[in-house]
Amino acid sequence: MNTELIKISKKVYYKEITDSTNTDAMNSKNAPEGSVFLAEKQNAGKGSRGRSWLSEYGGGIWMSILLYPDIPMRDIPKITLAAGLAVCRVIKDIGFDAGIKWPNDVVIGGKKVCGILAEKKQNRVAVGIGVNVNIKSFGSELENKATSLYIEGKKEFCREKIIELIAENFEDTYQKLKENGFAPLREEYKSNCITIGKKIKVIQPKEEYEAFAKDITSEGELLIIHGEEEEKLCSGEVSVRGVYGYA
Ligand code: BTN
Repeated sequence: MNTELIKISKKVYYKEITDSTNTDAMNSKNAPEGSVFLAEKQNAGKGSRGRSWLSEYGGGIWMSILLYPDIPMRDIPKITLAAGLAVCRVIKDIGFDAGIKWPNDVVIGGKKVCGILAEKKQNRVAVGIGVNVNIKSFGSELENKATSLYIEGKKEFCREKIIELIAENFEDTYQKLKENGFAPLREEYKSNCITIGKKIKVIQPKEEYEAFAKDITSEGELLIIHGEEEEKLCSGEVSVRGVYGYA
């Protein structure tokens, strides 16, 4: 990867191979806000809910953006919504019919092309973004739920350009979030959210149930109808699936 091509970010920290760019960002010393941590390959890429994240050499964008937000833990999920929206904009601009599966997976044709994991350590937040760019194929376990830009577009894409576009768009969505919370992003988020209007399966540590996804609140929660009741789901606490598949 030619990091000289990435001009928007304050500082780019590049390692060919690392365990996790999120860990690199959280352990960094004196890195300015907005610094971007990148690697060609992660040996211990972290996914949400303690899962691992496949990060094959050169196959994707494995990046973490370092922030020093002065916000309570409970507001961190909003940062991941802002990041998901930023990535969705970029993938759409490249020409794909992308959407957001609440809270922050970016999908094409119902398959995940990007996952986001924010982690907090002291006053730092690492916003980890994994985009499957030039991965040629997935193993049988993932092929029904994961895709890449290469698989969808049948050609390779320049990762540096996409990193730059993600950093630029996240700067915009994060700025809006800092100034006025999730409300200014809500309409755009909703118009891209493929979860709304669908029957979904809500997966919680101790129970699973079916519900209808009705709306996104001004706090970024998923408003669902469960039986006769309306409930608000906070991202970070639950996971949702389509009733007929991943999305
Ligand atoms: C998910 O499971 O959807 C979240 C995946 C997040 C993956 C990215 S890749 C860059 C950053 N470093 C990590 O270890 N994880 C995130």
